[in-house]
Amino acid sequence: MSRQDLEAGLKGMAERLAPVLGDDEVTAIPVLGGAMFFAADLVRHMPSGLVMDFIRIQTYGDSTSPQSEAKADWVPHESNVRGKHVLLLDDILDTGRTLFEAKRYLLDEMGAAKVTIAVLIDKPIRRSADVSADCSVLLMEDDAFLVGYGLDFAGRFRNVPDVYALETGPDGLPLLAEEARDSISSRARGPVVPDGSQTASGA
Ligand code: IMP
Ligand code: MG
Repeated sequence: MSRQDLEAGLKGMAERLAPVLGDDEVTAIPVLGGAMFFAADLVRHMPSGLVMDFIRIQTYGDSTSPQSEAKADWVPHESNVRGKHVLLLDDILDTGRTLFEAKRYLLDEMGAAKVTIAVLIDKPIRRSADVSADCSVLLMEDDAFLVGYGLDFAGRFRNVPDVYALETGPDGLPLLAEEARDSISSRARGPVVPDGSQTASGA
């Protein structure tokens, strides 16, 4: 995934989000810390005047029970959420536990008027929580583990500029393998537009 492709993908996402966000009072909320690179690049393609705040979700274990296994441990200011249209951003939607809990927390406990989810990468193969992305830049169909551009392995590699698939070397230590261009495909996945028709399409 080259920087150029990423930039084009983010610009396209901003264009697809525009009619969904409309004239609403929008607060963009990246999930710390992986989404910060994606979010910073995305919002710079969006209209000025949006507010930014942050949420962090701690996930525990590998349970299939989404609600009990993820918990917000850093939350946005209430004034940025109550009654607002929240654009919830994450680097990758995998099992869905993180975004299920983030969305639930923002709607049920903080009073957001609406939550729209946008992710850089949608990886549906391991989805266990009842949550989906309204908008994504990339679809990854297999179960590769990705690093770079905010995605980490044990806290490392977030600062690698491009997205890579992580492989393990003969010594068991991680190697940065081929750029992840073979395992992820670009797709223009649009949000559900206000009239309810899905604009999803292959790209
Ligand atoms: P979920 O809760 O399983 O949907 O996972 C979401 C979180 O898990 C993301 O915010 C990432 O931090 C992490 N994650 C899931 N898949 C990957 C991956 O392939 N590379 C790096 N982090 C990942
Ligand atoms: Mg993360």
